[in-house]
Amino acid sequence: MAAEKLAVTRATFDEVILPVYAPAQFVPVKGKGSRIWDQEGKEYVDFSGGIAVTALGHCHPALVDALKTQGETLWHTSNVFTNEPALRLASKLIAATFAERVFFANSGAEANEAAFKLARYYATQRHSPFKSKIIAFHNAFHGRTLFTVSVGGQPKYSDGFGPKPADIVHVPFNDLAAVKAVIDDHTCAIVVEPIQGEGGVMPATPEFMQGLRQLCDEHNALLVLDEVQSGMGRSGKLFAYEHYGVKPDIVTTAKALGGGFPVSAMLTTNEIASVMAPGVHGTTYGGNPLACAVAEAALDIINTPEVLDGVAQRRQLFVDALQALDAKLDLFSDIRGMGLLIGAALKPQHAGKARDILNAAAAEGVMVLVAGTDVMRFAPSLVIDPADITEGMKRFAAAVEKVLG
Ligand SMILES: Cc1ncc(COP(=O)(O)O)c(C=O)c1O
Repeated sequence: MAAEKLAVTRATFDEVILPVYAPAQFVPVKGKGSRIWDQEGKEYVDFSGGIAVTALGHCHPALVDALKTQGETLWHTSNVFTNEPALRLASKLIAATFAERVFFANSGAEANEAAFKLARYYATQRHSPFKSKIIAFHNAFHGRTLFTVSVGGQPKYSDGFGPKPADIVHVPFNDLAAVKAVIDDHTCAIVVEPIQGEGGVMPATPEFMQGLRQLCDEHNALLVLDEVQSGMGRSGKLFAYEHYGVKPDIVTTAKALGGGFPVSAMLTTNEIASVMAPGVHGTTYGGNPLACAVAEAALDIINTPEVLDGVAQRRQLFVDALQALDAKLDLFSDIRGMGLLIGAALKPQHAGKARDILNAAAAEGVMVLVAGTDVMRFAPSLVIDPADITEGMKRFAAAVEKVLG
C-alpha cells in the first residue's frame, strides 16, 4: 500500500529546510512548456527558466521520454563501470565543441571545482609546483563549494567559512589592463564567465576575451570559461565562447545541460587531460546513465539551427517589450546580455527595487529573476512560445506599474 502523502505548504519550508533560501510565497506543483501552476491552481508564465536550466521548457516530451526509457533500463552503476548514455553524451559534446575529453559531475560548482583542480594539477605536473595563481573577476559567480566561492568574486559568499584556498587574485571584469598588471609566469589559469550571470548579466567584450586568450598564451596559463549559465544555447550559439573567436582550454557547463535533471560537465583537450590518472579526481554520481540520457536528449534538440536561430528572434521580442516599457516609465539604464540571458538594469531612481518588482511580477502571474538589487534578469526557455512572451511581458508591465505607481 502506498504511504499517504504528507500535506505540505510554503510554511513547511520555514520549519524543515535549512534557511539558506527565501523562496516565493507560492509552491509550484506542475509545469508544461513555459507555464507553471502552483498549489492553488494559479498559473504563471515562466521567464525564470529555473535560473537558466529548463532550456526546453517544463516536461518537454523528448526529455520525459528519455527519462522514462532510461528509468526503466539502468539508473546507476558508479564510475567503477562506464555506461552507454555517458559515452554517447561525451562523444556528442566533443563533436560539437573544441573539446577532446569530458568529465561529468552533477552541478555547476562541481564542474568548476574539477576545472580549477585540473588547471592547478596541469600546471604542477607540466611546469612547476609554484604555478598555482588563479586570476578571476569581481562579481564573478562559480558555485558554492569553498574553492568555487573563493574563485568567485563576491566576498559575501566566501567570508565566514574559515581559511580560503590561497593564491586567487580578483580584478575588475572587462579590464584587460588590470589582468596584465597581475598575470605572471606563476599564473596557472584565468577563470571567467563569458557573460557574468549572477553578477548582473554582463557580457565580456570581444577585446577582453581575446586579450585574455593572448595573455594566457604568453604566460602558459589556461583559459577556463565558466559557461554554466551562458552555455547550452543560451547565447544563441551552443557555447558563448563561439561568439568571441577564441579557443578555450577548459569549459564548464551545467544548468541547461540536463534541462532540469542535475548533470554537469567539464570539457577540455587531450593535452590537458593527459596529466590525469585514475584516482586523481572523481565523483560517485558523475556520468550517471539517467542524467546522461536526459542530457543527450536535450543536446540533440538544443544543438540544432531551429533552436539556436530561434534564440535571437525571441530575444528581440523581449527587448522590444522592455524598450516599450522603458519608453513609458523611464525605467532602465541598460538592456543587455546575449541571446535569452537578458538583463534590464534599473535606473538610479529605481535602485534597490528589483526584488519588489520580482514579487509583484509573481503576483501578476509571471516568474522573473533578479541579478543583484538593481537588475531584472530573464532566462526563459529557448523554445518559449512567442505568445507566452507577449502574455508574460503584459503581466510584467502591470507589475512594474504597480511597484512604481
Ligand atoms: C556561472 C555559474 N557558475 C556556476 C554556478 C553554480 O552552479 P550550481 O548551482 O549548479 O552549483 C552558477 C549558478 O548559478 C553559475 O551561474
